[in-house]
This record gives sequence, C-alpha cells and structure tokens, in this order.
Amino acid sequence: MSKELDGTVALVTGASSGIGAATARRLAREGASVALVARRGDLMEEVARSIQENGGMARVIPADITTRDGANAAVTAAVEAFGRLDIVVNNAGVMLIGPFADAPDGEWERMVNVNVLGLMYVSKAALPHLIKSASEEPRRTADLVNISSSAGRVARPGTAVYNLTKFGVNGFTEALRQEMQPLRVRVSVIEPGNVDTELASHTRDELRAGVEAQIASIEKLQPDDIADAVAYVVTSRRRVAINEVFVRAADQSW
Ligand SMILES: NC(=O)c1ccc[n+]([C@@H]2O[C@H](COP(=O)([O-])OP(=O)(O)OC[C@H]3O[C@@H](n4cnc5c(N)ncnc54)[C@H](OP(=O)(O)O)[C@@H]3O)[C@@H](O)[C@H]2O)c1
Repeated sequence: MSKELDGTVALVTGASSGIGAATARRLAREGASVALVARRGDLMEEVARSIQENGGMARVIPADITTRDGANAAVTAAVEAFGRLDIVVNNAGVMLIGPFADAPDGEWERMVNVNVLGLMYVSKAALPHLIKSASEEPRRTADLVNISSSAGRVARPGTAVYNLTKFGVNGFTEALRQEMQPLRVRVSVIEPGNVDTELASHTRDELRAGVEAQIASIEKLQPDDIADAVAYVVTSRRRVAINEVFVRAADQSW
C-alpha cells in the first residue's frame, strides 16, 4: 500500500530523544527515508533500529549543529545517503530554566547556539535541496518545520532567554515562510506546550525540583502528540500550507 511520504527524504534534528525521536519514527511510518541528526549516536542507533524493524529507512548522522561546519556536514551526509531532501524538522533545542540575572556563564549561549544559530545553520544548508525537491516529483512541494514552543507565544519569569530564542524562531519562521512561498517550500512552526521529555532535566540541580513541582499536577503531552502535528503539517495536500500549530496539554492554562 502506498504511503503519503513514499519517495521523500526527511532530516530531523534532535532525533536522539523526545519529540525528535518520535517524529523520526512517525515520518518513517509515513514512508519517508529519515536522516537522524543529534550528538548522541548510540541513542539514534536505537531509534534507527526501531524504524528499520518496521520496514523503514533510517541513517544516523552524529553532528553538533551549533557550528556551521557541523550543520553543513549533517545536511550533506543526509543528501549523500538518500539522494535528496524533502522535509527538514528543526527540532533540536535546549531549555535551561532560571532567573536571567542569576544564570551562570554559558547557559544563555547554549540556548542561543542550539535553538537559534543551530536552527539557522541547518536551514541555510538545507534550503537549496528543499527548493530543488519542491520543483520535482513526487510531491512538487517541500517542508521546513521549526519546533518552537508555547514559550514562543507566552513569556514567563524564569524563561527569559528560552523565550527570546523561541519568540525568535516564530519571527524567523514567518519571514522565511514569505521568502520561500513562491518557491513552494512550506515553512511552518509548531509550538508545543508541556511535553514529557528530558528537556527540563538539563536545568541546574538546585532549580530542577522547583520546575518539576510547578508542572507536577498536569498531564503532560507525549512526544507522539507533537509527532502527530508534524505529520499533519507535512502530509497536507500541495495546495494547503499549515503555517502554525499550537498544541497545549489540555491541563495547561498558560
Ligand atoms: N518538552 C517540552 O515540554 C517542549 C515544549 C515546547 C517545545 N519543546 C521543544 O521541542 C524540541 C525538542 O525537545 P524535547 O522536549 O524533545 O527535548 P529533548 O528530549 O531534550 O530533545 C532535545 C534534542 O536536541 C538535541 N540537541 C541538543 N543540543 C544539540 C546540538 N548541539 N546538536 C545537535 N542536537 C542537539 C538533543 O540531542 P543530543 O543531546 O544527542 O545532541 C536532543 O535530541 C526543542 O526545540 C524544545 O525546545 C519542548
């Protein structure tokens, strides 16, 4: 039986865990060959194995996207592995919670480097390939999907720099959407609410318990819930562009 994404190639950053791993599995189920990009190759090998066991195609590409060279090499490796690129999901991200003025040196930089610069480097490297695929069969369209956050819409104390990065991703997405629209590359943003992943676990030890207590009472989204949103965006008909999807946990008020 044919699948929506048969004949396409997807690259997912941050595919070693959480939303990225779920998205890679989901896009493979839809028929895409998937390039998995992140730093932890061992975890990505497990994701790739599960994709292959279900009849899908996956390639593990260990890379740090915070350098231009790392991002360029990852995109090149994906195209060399599968011959083209139709879908990019800019999912890799870091969230280090805490008051702005108290952050130790390096925390802001880690978030800006991954969430903003890494996303830009991967996008820049991927766009020529996406533009080419958008003029070809099987879809005559291509997709660049940026994973932002509810924190790209709603600012709160303790997440100032994370808010800066995700508000930035939203603005970048809208401008790039307009630049790419005539070329049939659809540029979209997905804004997850609270998802059950390891994201918050990187917060400093002394703050982590407080962060977890704040969200303990809500039933969090699961990574598959966001993978569903990505699949909805990239499998939509050629005449449809789903520009923005905001997915909160039903229990989440903010
Ligand atoms: N969880 C939530 O509640 C939530 C809510 C809204 C938005 N989001 C967004 O969703 C995205 C995915 O997060 P998640 O929740 O799934 O958390 P996660 O499990 O911590 O995933 C983050 C991913 O980013 C990758 N990454 C980090 N630094 C990298 C680098 N320098 N180069 C390449 N990859 C890097 C990590 O892989 P390696 O460590 O192996 O490199 C990991 O696979 C992020 O953009 C996050 O901001 C999450």
